[in-house]
Amino acid sequence: MTAIDLSGDVAVVTGGASGIGREISVQFADAGADIVVADLREEPREGGTPTVERIRAETDSDAQFVECDVTEQGDRENVAKRAAEMGGADVLVNNAGIFRGEEFTEVSEAEFDQLMDVNVKGVFFVTQALIDQLLEDGGRVINLSSVAGLEGSGDFISYCTSKGAVRLMTYSLADKYGPEDVRVNAIHPGVIETAMVTEDVPIIGGESEAEFRQTVPLRQFGQPGDIADAALYLASDLSEYVNGESLVVDGGIAS
Ligand code: NAI
Repeated sequence: MTAIDLSGDVAVVTGGASGIGREISVQFADAGADIVVADLREEPREGGTPTVERIRAETDSDAQFVECDVTEQGDRENVAKRAAEMGGADVLVNNAGIFRGEEFTEVSEAEFDQLMDVNVKGVFFVTQALIDQLLEDGGRVINLSSVAGLEGSGDFISYCTSKGAVRLMTYSLADKYGPEDVRVNAIHPGVIETAMVTEDVPIIGGESEAEFRQTVPLRQFGQPGDIADAALYLASDLSEYVNGESLVVDGGIAS
């Protein structure tokens, strides 16, 4: 069996305090990478030990937390500075994101702007802040899109719009930086059990849970570890000829 080895890499994970980003951070550290967790706050939304403490306790890797709102230029610069101090970012996981269910006619411009600021501009400008470091030594960028970035949904129109933009940003960055040995790929998760879908929009635990489950051919929701496995593959040499790809991890929803 080929073990994934990320030792010597520094990985920046936005939104790494909670949910999917937390699991990616821990698994990357377990594979040997040093981690910069960039998030609004250290406490996981789902509770438990902060990511950085977990990594220090469970692995031999270094992990540092940087308080960061991906919509703030100064915060993005702080993340880049910390990554540089740790040796320079080799992997960037643009995972921070927000989700909103909505009635189309009731979405305010301010709500739409907030979704775009975090989900689209955050990915664009965090990547811009780190691109010089990623170019130094074979970088990898992994963007968290969604099945909602592949298929439309009348229930989540602004979210689908934002995640569709992440998909095309991924293809465009792959086109630009592939020749300079930076691979850029997207992961499109289905419904993954995190606070985002148990609290923000209660798909799990809400009235329509059974109905949503029926839309998944595997008849179960995913776990953060399912997405971390895909991210490990895209960060590793196992995917060295994969660039500008959409990796769908959704139990078959989009098929
Ligand atoms: P989550 O809500 O559990 O965790 C998101 C993390 O991002 C939190 O720690 C939060 O503090 C952080 N964050 C939010 N806004 C931020 C900002 N402006 N700056 C920095 N950090 C910020 O969400 P989850 O489920 O772990 O989602 C991670 C990514 O996966 C998101 O991009 C989401 O859209 C995407 N995704 C999630 C799915 C799911 O079913 N959970 C399905 C498809 C995509």
